[in-house]
Amino acid sequence: RKEGFPHFMLKEIHEQPRVINDTIAGFGRDYEMGAEMLHSGDTIFVTAAGTSYHASMYFALLTAKLTGRKVIPFISSEYESYIHSASSGDVLLAVSQSGETIDTLMALRAFKALGCKVVSLTNVIGSVISRESDQAVYMKAGPEIGVAATKTFTTQLTALTWLALLIAQRGGRLDAEGIKSTRERIKALPDLVEEVIMKYEGWAKGMSRLIAAKSSAYYLSRGLGLPIALEGALKLKEVAYVHAEGYPAGESKHGPIALVERGFPVVFVSVEKSLEKKLLGNIEEMKARGAFTIGIIPQGSELGARLDEKVVIPSRDEVLLPILEIIPLQLLAYYTAVEKGVDPDKPRNLAKTVTVE
Ligand code: M6R
Repeated sequence: RKEGFPHFMLKEIHEQPRVINDTIAGFGRDYEMGAEMLHSGDTIFVTAAGTSYHASMYFALLTAKLTGRKVIPFISSEYESYIHSASSGDVLLAVSQSGETIDTLMALRAFKALGCKVVSLTNVIGSVISRESDQAVYMKAGPEIGVAATKTFTTQLTALTWLALLIAQRGGRLDAEGIKSTRERIKALPDLVEEVIMKYEGWAKGMSRLIAAKSSAYYLSRGLGLPIALEGALKLKEVAYVHAEGYPAGESKHGPIALVERGFPVVFVSVEKSLEKKLLGNIEEMKARGAFTIGIIPQGSELGARLDEKVVIPSRDEVLLPILEIIPLQLLAYYTAVEKGVDPDKPRNLAKTVTVE
């Protein structure tokens, strides 16, 4: 039931504070055992499709940054290429909200056949991917009806952040005190997510009028913000049918910038302070070509002054920012679909769960 919301997608966006809270409350023994298994592997491979791949990419970037470990993310339908460089001492993390995506299941089976241990992160207890893994870990997003993943993405990010921190603890990069204080910081997420929704739903509605009139948009970022940019672009194209590309900001001048002309919308996502200066350079390059620049930026960011539109996230905590920064982009995609009069719950040509290779 939609409980008074016009669409499931909007209801599920609004459910995020609660389900993130449930996911945090569920950080238990399955997470400890999953982290132990991942820590014990030589190389950590991470695989998924679509939105879950963006969450996996985030996990890989964060874990490598926190632990110095080799973490290789790959799109599950490409597993045949990645299996060549894997060996039995490696470990695979398979991420799938449904736990039924065939590409991810095939990747899992190929790694198992090689003798690798497999950890899974799913939202469905007893799903085939959770059953076939050596250690199943769960987020607690509840059923997601909208075809577009929203609450399953932010709960995946929450769960994967915790797994990354537990791996860092095992690698001696974080002591018990560090883990405890980070868990406290993570507990602030539900209230912050609520605040972002309250503050920026109206903004998204207004901005959707401008975006709905465009045929194309770029979403650019660097570092830990890149998976969020990729996900923001995926949301816009799948529900609002506006062509959108997520790209590493530095790479944008190696081709994509050719399309930019007056009024072309470019969304910048900023997470890491250490990368802001370079991101500013990319904003200037886009502005010089007449782009309309929108920034999703942390509190206190210096980028604000150079953007045409800014969404200031009420936090500077780099562990929390990616989870908070996708929220306005989900809302923007949703309201752009509504503005165009298309049904965001049932995008054409898409199935909630993809069971053919
Ligand atoms: O159930 P999964 O997480 O394995 O699904 C993978 C993708 O099909 C899925 O994330 C898809 O990209 C989203 N529904 C798009 O919003």
